Amino acid sequence: MRLFNSDCFTYRNNELYCEEIPAALIAENYGTPVYVYSKKFFTDRYKEFTEAFSEINHRVFFASKSNFNLNVIKIFADLGAGIDVNSAGELYRAKKAGVNPKDMLFSGVGKTAEEIKEAIENNVLILKAESLGEAHLINKLAGDLGKIAPIAFRVNPDVNPETHPYISTGLAENKFGISSDDTIAIFKEADALPNLDVCGIDMHIGSQITKISPYVEAVQKMAELFLKLTSDGIELKHFDIGGGMGITYDNETPFTPKELAKELVPIFKTLDCEILFEPGRSLTANGGVLLSEVLYTKKNNQKNFIVADAAMTDLLRPSIYGAYHHIQPAKIYDRNDITADIVGPVCESGDFLAKDREITISEPGELLSIMSAGAYGQVMASNYNARRRPPEIIIDGDKHYSTRSRETFEHLLFDEVIVDDLHR
Ligand SMILES: Cc1ncc(COP(=O)(O)O)c(C=O)c1O
Repeated sequence: MRLFNSDCFTYRNNELYCEEIPAALIAENYGTPVYVYSKKFFTDRYKEFTEAFSEINHRVFFASKSNFNLNVIKIFADLGAGIDVNSAGELYRAKKAGVNPKDMLFSGVGKTAEEIKEAIENNVLILKAESLGEAHLINKLAGDLGKIAPIAFRVNPDVNPETHPYISTGLAENKFGISSDDTIAIFKEADALPNLDVCGIDMHIGSQITKISPYVEAVQKMAELFLKLTSDGIELKHFDIGGGMGITYDNETPFTPKELAKELVPIFKTLDCEILFEPGRSLTANGGVLLSEVLYTKKNNQKNFIVADAAMTDLLRPSIYGAYHHIQPAKIYDRNDITADIVGPVCESGDFLAKDREITISEPGELLSIMSAGAYGQVMASNYNARRRPPEIIIDGDKHYSTRSRETFEHLLFDEVIVDDLHR
């Protein structure tokens, strides 16, 4: 079978390593399923991204929705990144990781009044507004708090990012942002409100985008709007292009940050402002794997099945998007390949990690590595079937650190109680 090696996950003597640590050692110490991340991968990807745009005034805000582990957030913040948060919960987590809200963007298509207040009280750098109604609410709440709220409107440039429909966000049919046709009028109305500082224009056209052309098309449209708005007297300090940069899960050949910069920097140079980026997946996905033990193998007259101890509750992407994650044994044996469905223990046929996948014959007790699991993995995990969410381990060279242990059954009950009156 084909083996997927990412920068920091490689085979030595037929054994998978993360940096200097064998995957088997992590499974032995922490049990399975278990998430394993490489600090070096995160660091290298962040540096590669920011260096590619070093010619221009810019700042990278790590999209914490892709991986909101406190230590992952802190790794990026310590490198100089700001943090993009998408809810009061993510704001809370980023603060717990030691990030000053002045270094945060607050995004989200449906913020509640409580979340907006939280963002204003914490003095986040920019609050995104996704409708005129939201801008009016931010204005009112800022007034109540005696503050001026810095806002950027998210504009929907109506560009096809050529990605999975569930993660495409910049088409007119999608729920996100304001329409580019209404942009000038909406900015002007909001700019006249007393408690708003309308300081930025923002886009995010989708995720797992592997071609540069949708970015070029969208940035060109947005740059025209930016120039029109500033010539009309609106003082914009930020132009935010969002995230969405794609990665290799299977055989995709995404652009590099350098290639993206080559196309976009000339456009950015025509704008007198700071350029903001919000990458998530491209900084984290291939810096993580989910290790899972094979529980059983079986076969019927149609299919081979490998039943693993990881499920859709641990890694949801295959079930909801039909997303591809390469799966390979953590130890390579000289055996034949089979075609199998790799499935989890949850009572749903939708609980699979891979369908009709070519994989070396595996035996119960052996370890599988589900690749590219550093983004949209643990953050989407759930407790369905009263399963405990897995631990997260970060490797730094020859050291491994548990940043979060496996949930206990007590965690699952939290403050749930038996109400005696209900049972009389
Ligand atoms: C507003 C916003 N910014 C950034 C991101 C990060 O996207 P990605 O992980 O694809 O880079 C997302 C993802 O949904 C988003 O909604």
